[in-house]
Amino acid sequence: MKPSTSSRLSRISWSRGKSRGAEMEKIGTGSGFGKVILFGEHYVVYGLPAIASAISDNTIAKIEPAEKYELVDNRPATEGYKEKKQGEMDRSMKLILDFMHTDVEKTPVKITLAGNLFCTSGIGASAAMATSIARAFSEYFDLDLDDEKINRVSYEGEKGSAGTPSGIDNTCATFGGLLWFKRNMSGGENTIALIKIREPIRIVLGNTGMSAVTSEVVADVRRAKDENPEKFKRIFSDYENLANEARKALENHDLELLGKLFDENHRLLQETGVSCKELDHLVNLAKENGALGAKMTGTGRGGYMIALTPGKGLQERVAKAIENDGCKVLRTTIGTGN
Ligand code: MEV
Repeated sequence: MKPSTSSRLSRISWSRGKSRGAEMEKIGTGSGFGKVILFGEHYVVYGLPAIASAISDNTIAKIEPAEKYELVDNRPATEGYKEKKQGEMDRSMKLILDFMHTDVEKTPVKITLAGNLFCTSGIGASAAMATSIARAFSEYFDLDLDDEKINRVSYEGEKGSAGTPSGIDNTCATFGGLLWFKRNMSGGENTIALIKIREPIRIVLGNTGMSAVTSEVVADVRRAKDENPEKFKRIFSDYENLANEARKALENHDLELLGKLFDENHRLLQETGVSCKELDHLVNLAKENGALGAKMTGTGRGGYMIALTPGKGLQERVAKAIENDGCKVLRTTIGTGN
């Protein structure tokens, strides 16, 4: 669960271990964490800092020999998620396999995806999948890849989903923990720092039940920014101040302030055009039921809302209110395993 201080995005040489031929009866398994972005989704694509936390729910990949290539997806998911994401998933798989110089026609395998991460937009499901597959291939082919290399493979997979990914999702999926992340816009090493907090903080994730295509939403933001550079300059500047305050609030365990910053970040995301009425509704519901703050998380236009709900009683009250409204929730914590 310990992140290193940087993620190396340089070319990796894939020296395979001894096992590519006759002994192919072995099985490779690997896992990747889900994540929540606390601050900075979308802005992180443009080099602004973001704060994200891995959650303990994960995706698990198993790879075994087969007569012909097969991918079996047993992950729990929002209705329609897998259909909507099929194109992204195919692109991601191809990028991962190409990057790892793996030809599944010549060396056919069966990949089975499972785990308890409930897949929908906003929870880093595609990165969790890519990381789990990279780890499973590493074990299957005796590649012995360290976390830096796993993260590099996972980033390739993310290109199939996010178009121009910032790298935050694959970094959380691979390393876990609560992270300060800043993308290096020149293509060099990203800044990644572990944020230490006093104790894990309870949150509620409310699922709109709708899925969005990350690459499309990211492209819409780019278009809006190109059309209205002055507006986005102001949003980015407001956000950057907010992110720095949020880091301090986490380190000082100032949860009242943290909640206010959640609300403010949600307002900026609304202005950016990535929220939707279903997310706004869940945010309001969480606030009405006592959440210290609430915002959309991840891609937006569906997916999850995150509410800051320290204490079991408050977490339960907000979770119940959202369930009574007909939505699925995840009760979890941030900062676990730091
Ligand atoms: C998606 O989980 C987060 C985005 O900021 C895209 C990215 O960072 O690559 C929307």
